[in-house]
Formats: sequence, structure tokens, C-alpha cells
Amino acid sequence: MTSINILFIGDIVGRPGRKILKNKLPLLKQQYMLDFVFCNGENSAGGLGITAAIAGELLNTGIDGITLGNHIWSQKIWLQQAIHFKQICRPLNAPDDWPGFDHIYINKDNYDVLLISLMGQAFMNPLLTNPFQVIDQKLPIFKEKYCTKNIIVDFHAESTAEKITMGYFLENKVLAVLGTHTHVQTADEKILGNGTAFITDIGMTGPAGGVLGMSKKVAVERAMNLLPAMYNIDKDPFAMLNAVLLTVDPNAGQAKKIERIQIFDHVFE
Ligand SMILES: [Fe+2]
Ligand SMILES: [Fe+2]
Repeated sequence: MTSINILFIGDIVGRPGRKILKNKLPLLKQQYMLDFVFCNGENSAGGLGITAAIAGELLNTGIDGITLGNHIWSQKIWLQQAIHFKQICRPLNAPDDWPGFDHIYINKDNYDVLLISLMGQAFMNPLLTNPFQVIDQKLPIFKEKYCTKNIIVDFHAESTAEKITMGYFLENKVLAVLGTHTHVQTADEKILGNGTAFITDIGMTGPAGGVLGMSKKVAVERAMNLLPAMYNIDKDPFAMLNAVLLTVDPNAGQAKKIERIQIFDHVFE
């Protein structure tokens, strides 16, 4: 059986996230003989959104495709820049006139992957179109267009139940349904059906301390005072990289194994 290795890295948060990525990705590529590397980049610019400069930086570290999420427009300049990045996609269930691409197709060394992002509806803002109905309608169109069996769905959602439901909805229809957005890695990775890899949340790549990557001091103050305060990136000198490694039979379009990865590094003095 031919097999390829795909790494999907959870939400990159600010400079600490980008730094640990730069420090560790070359080693991970070697260690796991990675064929494709993807990440969620919705928090890569100072914790909120993405810009062309940061997108370029992530792609230069060896990322093949980047998904986004509810923070997609936090850096407003991205409204003009998104159209220039074919390797970065917005959620598929967003309004049709949102700038940028609604999927990523990568063909490399005789293997291909189609990457799709969907956003959940429970506790999510903005509220997008029903992701179940959208993927149900669009999946056959993508399959016909690209003739690929290797489809990965990043399901960017808050509710664990909604994410697990999406896993079962897409069981045996796609290669993987991988949750992002909560920034906390869950321990429920599994193979559904004949080869759909699933995890509720991959976790994040950013400051190891703090509250989901943001300052713990500000989070505690806000909780106590109930007053608005600007969040900033937590100053923990240690960062963590959360990801999942998929071992895939690309000819069958089946995931054989999903493995959680969580590594730490000292990124600041
Ligand atoms: Fe995020
Ligand atoms: Fe998010």
C-alpha cells in the first residue's frame, strides 16, 4: 500500500506561534517524512486575523495550505489581499461575495489534496449558512471537478456536539474532518468508518500559558471587573505546537491512522 503523511497544525497564534512553527517544522518534516502540511492561520497576525506579509511568512516555512475562521477579517487589509493567495481559503459556507478562495487544491509529487474550511453555527459569530447543507451540496461538485479522493475538512466550530456530528455526517465521504477554533486539543482522535480521520479539536500553536494564547492577566481582569480591556498575546516564553499527523492511503482516499502531536519550545527570553 502506498501511503503519504499529512500534518495539520492547529490555529497559529501570533509571533510565538509563528516562531515555534519556524523552529520545529523542518524537524517534523524530516521525522515524519511529511508530504503535505496544512494549518489554520486565523490568529496568526497578533492573535487576530492574517495579512499578506504573515501569510507569506507561513507559506515560506513550508505550509502548503492555510484555512481561516471567524477572525478572518480582523486585519481589514486582508479584504484586499485575500484574492492573491490561492493557498489560503475562507469558510465554504460564507457568503459567495466574500473575497478570496473558498477551497484549496494542491497537487504535488503525483498526489493531490483538496482542503475545505467550514464554520459551525453554534455559539459562532458571524453566523454563516448551514455547513451541513452547504457541504452536502458542494462535495459532489468538487469530487467531479478535481477527481480527487483526498478531501480534508477543517470544521471551525465551538460546539463539540456539532463537530462530532459533522464527523459522522462526512464519514466515508472525506479523508478527514478536523476541528479547530477552541484552541484546546481534545483526546478523541479516531478513524470513522472505513477511513475518515476525526478529532474534535487539534488545539493551537502559540503561547503555552495564557488563555487560548491571549494574556492571562487581561483575561483575569476582564472576568473580575466586567470592563472592556484590549487582549494581547500572552508573554509566556514557552510556546506549544499542536497538530495531528495523518497516515493516508491516497489511492483509496482513506486515512489509516491519526496521531496527536503536542510539542513545546522556548521561544522568548
Ligand atoms: Fe483560533
Ligand atoms: Fe476561531
